[in-house]
This record gives sequence, C-alpha cells and structure tokens, in this order.
Amino acid sequence: PTGTTVDAHGDLRVGDLRVAELANRFGTPLQLLDTTDVRRRCRAYRAALPHAEVAYASKAFLCRAMARLVADEGLSLDVCSAGELAVARSVGFPAERILLHGNAKTPEDLKAALALHVGRIVIDSLDEIDQLGALVRDRQRVLVRVAPGVDGQTHASITTGTDDQKFGFPLSTGAAAEAVRRVLAEPSLGLVGLHGHIGSQIRKVASFEEATRRLIGLMARIRDEHGVELPELNIGGGHAVPQLPGDEEFDLAGFANRIEVAVHDECHRHGLRVPRLTIEPGRALVATAGVTVYRVTAVKNTTRRWVAVDGGMSDNPRPALYGAQYAVRLIGRPHTFPTQPATVVGRHCESGDVLAREVPLPHDLRAGDLLAVPCTGAYHHSLASNYNMVGRPPVLAVEGGVARLLVRRETEEDLLRRDVG
Ligand code: LLP
Repeated sequence: PTGTTVDAHGDLRVGDLRVAELANRFGTPLQLLDTTDVRRRCRAYRAALPHAEVAYASKAFLCRAMARLVADEGLSLDVCSAGELAVARSVGFPAERILLHGNAKTPEDLKAALALHVGRIVIDSLDEIDQLGALVRDRQRVLVRVAPGVDGQTHASITTGTDDQKFGFPLSTGAAAEAVRRVLAEPSLGLVGLHGHIGSQIRKVASFEEATRRLIGLMARIRDEHGVELPELNIGGGHAVPQLPGDEEFDLAGFANRIEVAVHDECHRHGLRVPRLTIEPGRALVATAGVTVYRVTAVKNTTRRWVAVDGGMSDNPRPALYGAQYAVRLIGRPHTFPTQPATVVGRHCESGDVLAREVPLPHDLRAGDLLAVPCTGAYHHSLASNYNMVGRPPVLAVEGGVARLLVRRETEEDLLRRDVG
C-alpha cells in the first residue's frame, strides 16, 4: 500500500518525496494525492474488466487535473451536478463519456448536460422524465435508476440498494417497470439501459452479484413486455477500500469474475444478448492515494489525552457523518516509545469534531509535531467545508518524484469574496 508506512526516522514518503518536507513547504493541513497510484488503479480496473466501461465517480474527488487524468486513462466520468459538469467541460472531457446522475437534478443541471451533449442521463424520478422530455431537442440517451432491493451491508447513510431510500425506483414495488414504461413512451428519450448503485464502502461481492442478477431479470421482463432489448447495464460503484491497517483489500479480480459469470448466466437463462457493462468506482480509485497532514496545535491531558490539530471536521467530516475510523501517524521526527492512547481532535467548535479516538501515539507528542492520516483521497476534499471560516486545504499531487499543486489553499480573501452585503 502507498503512503501508509513510516520508517524509523519518522519518514513517510509519497513517491520519493518526504511528506514532512512537503508539509513544511506547503503548510498544513495539507492533502496529498499520489497520482501515480491513482493511475495504477485506473489501469487495474480497466484490465480487470476489459469489455466494460469504467466511469470514475467524480464526487469522490474532482478538480481539473483529476478530470484530465481520468480522460487520459480512458475512463468515463460520472457527474451529478452542473458544477461537476463545468469542471469536466473546462478540460474538454469527451462529452459522450459523461454520465449525469442525481435524484434531484435541477433545470440547470439538465440544461448544462444537454448543451454539452453528454452521453447518458440516469433518470431518477417520473418528474425528471417530464422535465427532461420538455428540454430535449433531438434525442437523449438515458438509463433508468433501479433500487434492486439489495442491502450491501454498509453504513445506513451510504446504503442505496434497498427499497426504502431516496435513490432510484424500487424493483419490488413495480415502480421501476412503470418508470421504464414512461420513458419508452417519451419520444425524445432513448432508453439504453438500467442502472443500479447499491451503496458505498461495500465489501461483499455477493451483494453486487445479486443486484446484477436482479437487474438482468428486469431487462428480461422489459424485453417480454415491450419487445426492447436494452444494450447497457450500469451496476454502479461502491467498492470498499482498506480504511485501517489490516483491513482487507476489495477483491477486484473476484468481483470481475463473479460479475461476468452472473451477467452471462442470467442473460443465457433469459435468452438475452449480453449488455455492455458499466461500473462506477469512485473511492476505490482515489482513497488510498490520499494522505492528509496536520500540525499538532495543543496537547491537553485531562480526562484523556486530547491532541488538537490545525484541521478537523471541515476537511474530514467522515468520522462525524459515518463513524469512520482512521489511523494516525507521527511523521517528521523519530517515533518515540512507549505509545499512549490519544484522541485526535480538530479545531472546530463542536465536541463531535474528532478525527480519531484513542489511537496509539508517542507519549511525548507535543505542539508542532506533524501527524499524517492515510486513506483520505476520497470524499475528503469533496466533502470539505468552510466551517468556522476556516479555509479549505490545498491538494498537492505527487507524480514521478515531483510535487504539483492542484488546488491551492483557500484564503481569507476567497472566503470574503462571496460576501457581498
Ligand atoms: N455511482 C453513483 C451513482 C454514486 O452515487 C456513487 C457514490 C458512486 C457511483 C461511487 O461510489 P464509490 O465507488 O465511491 O463508493 N460521502 C460518502 C460516500 C458517498 C457515496 C455517494 N455515491 C463517504 O464519504 O463515505
């Protein structure tokens, strides 16, 4: 794994560069992204499923350089707002490889997607069928988002495959079949397939397999009812990453194999042509390539050892939102022993602003020390806020032994710019 091992001198390296030196040079908090690792993972996904379309879910992390990297690597792009679309457009991302998602697309989102001629729009409500139908000039290719009734056994806030959540049309209630009927009746929309994303940080390949089988079952019913064979099947993303040392890697080879078998089996059973498969990993491509570096601002020994750092829930709300756990490492000086438990907290005015509870850190940790938190490449920068008027951290890419600033630190001037009262 990249970015997670620290040697006896306290050196954490990304590529060949010492992270502590980068933190001194670019300031803290600092979000580093090992783009060599991101490229390697893009290639691994494409190689594992050579006939499938791999679309990067840009909500995990997006900036112009990332969009360019994804385009270079031959992946498609999943966007879910006019804003994400604007980033893609600004680097000339091939529009036919863009998919627009979202359960509450605004007229601006839809108009921006149509103006750019994106490849596909994924329909998530009956209202959207009408709204899109009224806006389309020529014809727009669409997929219908289906909730296949599969529980991926992940945190409730990132579960999307079950019936009782806001995304898609449940399969079990007949809502999905009805949405398909409605789309087929709308002359300006060309239905090309079904979509089912069952959630995020999912480990069990069996859940993806079950969802795939159910979606193909619906494709067979659509063929029987309407005489239409849909050429595409998009099974979403959601592949888990090892968040803590010792967590298992997602079994990509096993996933690829079992999904291909499931698709072929079910299609054969129903006498369907095999559709083109799309997968949409976000986290799995970027999470482990990211490291965040903080500087300790204060150590307070009261009921426990509280270690406060210069960032927190504004750059990483995931512990507060999902109970996410992180490893924390001292870098920049030799690790001293023994370790003692520390609760690493942020600078924000909330007691829930905790980055890691009771993690082992050197007994003599002090203000000024640098702490590195691995596995922060996905849903960190993209979820960041300006809470307490704290500027968002910069994102620094490391590739081929060179550090390159992708997103600069947010300044007070930036923070004041929108305040026009
Ligand atoms: N496709 C669709 C339609 C999605 O909604 C998502 C993620 C993905 C693909 C990619 O899922 P991934 O491969 O990244 O798991 N903020 C949460 C995660 C939210 C996921 C939203 N949708 C977190 O920090 O855990």
